[in-house]
Amino acid sequence: MDGLVAGYVIAHCAADEGEILNLGVAVAHRRHGVGRALVEHVLAALGARGVRVVYLEVRESNAGARRLYEALGFGEVARRARYYRRPVEDAVVLCAAIDPAGVSAKL
Ligand SMILES: CC(C)(COP(=O)(O)OP(=O)(O)OC[C@H]1O[C@@H](n2cnc3c(N)ncnc32)[C@H](O)[C@@H]1OP(=O)(O)O)[C@@H](O)C(=O)NCCC(=O)NCCS
Repeated sequence: MDGLVAGYVIAHCAADEGEILNLGVAVAHRRHGVGRALVEHVLAALGARGVRVVYLEVRESNAGARRLYEALGFGEVARRARYYRRPVEDAVVLCAAIDPAGVSAKL
């Protein structure tokens, strides 16, 4: 497995606000905690940079990702109608607060 990418997460931040832009785990590595570890890591990294609130968008039908995010403290705060293409689908906007100790919690 050395040298192979099992997953990745991309986020950015400005001042006290962060956003997870993308998260992906290779099919062969799914359901082994990689996605959860990546999100926990990025939340800690954002928290260390002073971020206190983190947003992301996820397809409405993406039950697996939504369950992962909700288990880590994200809650739905908005919807963007017909946000995605191929296929067209609404985005659910999720948000979590990060306290200074680095723990996320629903707003
Ligand atoms: C979503 C994704 C990143 C999850 O990565 P992963 O490494 O498989 O996730 P984990 O193993 O850390 O899962 C943690 C928890 O999330 C939930 N979960 C993850 N995938 C799930 C699925 N397919 N169905 C149901 N629940 C799921 C479960 O509660 C899981 O805990 P459990 O395995 O103990 O039941 C991965 O499936 C993926 O890359 N999907 C395609 C890209 C994508 O949808 N990215 C998110 C865009 S916002």
